[in-house]
Amino acid sequence: AKVLLVNGPNLNLLGRREPGHYGHHTLEQIVSNLTQQAVDTNLQLEHIQSNAEHVLIEAIHNTNADFIIINPAAFTHTSVALRDAILAVAIPFIEVHLSNVHSREPFRQHSYFSDKAVGVICGLGAQGYQFALQSAAAHLKVPTK
Ligand code: DQA
Repeated sequence: AKVLLVNGPNLNLLGRREPGHYGHHTLEQIVSNLTQQAVDTNLQLEHIQSNAEHVLIEAIHNTNADFIIINPAAFTHTSVALRDAILAVAIPFIEVHLSNVHSREPFRQHSYFSDKAVGVICGLGAQGYQFALQSAAAHLKVPTK
């Protein structure tokens, strides 16, 4: 089974971007750890990060993944278009945020994705992606090695 990992705007700066909120791991480290975890759990992982809404939308349109793990970043709070894309392809997804969006500015408390997600993970840093992948495997009933 295939999982598409989608990371939204500014997440390319992880590691040096507001480490108090987002931790010290770079996106490259997160993706490489997750790729290993995918191999270990019989999943195939594809990754896209973009700062451009239309690039993320088109990646979702064009994927043949069975499951999506998405951190829409700031688009969480703004993008009806990205929400519509993920609903259009009807691929189940888990929403991940590194920071606890509920303990920050009020505008971060609304998500255009949460009501449609299989689950939402926030505030657990880079580990959140690992939990999401583990849940994706369970959701897809992938036999473990
Ligand atoms: C974020 C939280 C968002 O509010 C913010 O705009 C981000 C990252 C997170 O992972 O904690 O860019 O999605």
